[in-house]
Amino acid sequence: MPVLALSDNVYEVGTVHPDRQLFDCLMPTPFGTTYNSYLIIGQDKIALIDSVDPEKVPVFLSNLEESGIKRIDYLVSLHTEQDHGGGAQAILRRYPMTQIIANAKVRELMLTHLHIPDEKITVIGEGDRLELGGKTLRFMMIPFAHWPDNYMAHLEEDNILFSSDLFGSHYSTSKAFSTSSADQRFAAKTYYAEIMMPFRAQIAGYTARVRELAPRLIAPSHGPVWYDPNLILHSYERWTGDGVKRLVSIPYVSMHNSTRVMVERLAVRLSEQGLSVICRDLGSELDSLTVETSYFITDLVYSAAVVMATPTVLGGPHPNIAYAALVANALRPKMRFLGVMGSYGWGTRMVETIDSLTANLKMERLKPLLIKGLPTDEDLARVDQMAFEIGEKIRNIPDLIR
Ligand code: FEO
Repeated sequence: MPVLALSDNVYEVGTVHPDRQLFDCLMPTPFGTTYNSYLIIGQDKIALIDSVDPEKVPVFLSNLEESGIKRIDYLVSLHTEQDHGGGAQAILRRYPMTQIIANAKVRELMLTHLHIPDEKITVIGEGDRLELGGKTLRFMMIPFAHWPDNYMAHLEEDNILFSSDLFGSHYSTSKAFSTSSADQRFAAKTYYAEIMMPFRAQIAGYTARVRELAPRLIAPSHGPVWYDPNLILHSYERWTGDGVKRLVSIPYVSMHNSTRVMVERLAVRLSEQGLSVICRDLGSELDSLTVETSYFITDLVYSAAVVMATPTVLGGPHPNIAYAALVANALRPKMRFLGVMGSYGWGTRMVETIDSLTANLKMERLKPLLIKGLPTDEDLARVDQMAFEIGEKIRNIPDLIR
């Protein structure tokens, strides 16, 4: 991304990574990502907010060259993780007079994770201000959005909020400002699901605080700047709220189609009751595990119920379903009901295994439905009964949202 102006003497100088396919060796990034860095040129001092992923440091330094600056007084590091802090050493080498601004946790992690010299770090706290001359940054702590170290910086004169990972999206574009495209909204939702959802209560509080602050622009560390902050704030208010939709997610694997027959029957019977149903096949393609699990995680943002459907492999659930269970357990979605169904060969402990993998999920457990071999008509009648019971439960949820 070239140098782009956001406001008078405020520029985006970060880098794009459109061909990045996976983040944290875990999350698919079908739209790539960006590592945003913001340059603020005050009358007296120059500040840079965040650096970039080490892989993109050469482009980053070239962007800084293009901006025409000869020095950086402050590198304001809002978050240590290497996709933002990983270029800090390069900045110190190119601009040796730079002082790093960090909160106490960023300082601690910069020492251990990046080996930044302690004397190069100045520690700030909640409400502190950094004066640049006609430009003032005020700092707001947002621990666990999504590391313990995150904080935001509000550029008071321009009313721009630099929000760190919060409100970000893995969405690469050469344009600085967000659009309302379906792809971008989906990227932001997936990002929320994979990164912020485990900290839903805190994120709801931070969103309320930002709503009160009413920034003119929200400039996150990934993806486009939100030129209309209401777009992302409204989404976050819904995602972090307690409400769920009439939505049932069915992640499934079927090796020999018996479990698939059950899934299709369940989906039809749920749909007949006016429920939305999303089935995710986690096993049919080489990349099903990562790609479809990522879709499943995004489905969890609004799902009222999840039914995990699996055959038995060596006594337990199929490993791909075990993986989905483990990930869901870590992300702690707000769904109300969790069920297990599947077909087994001669014996199974799939329910016990999935229960142990989802111990963090405190929602109501549905009665499991296990069928030996290919489902018979009687078995399918049991699937119908399960669908009916799920429908009843969801219809009785008092705070359903559209
Ligand atoms: Fe984008 Fe938590 O780093």
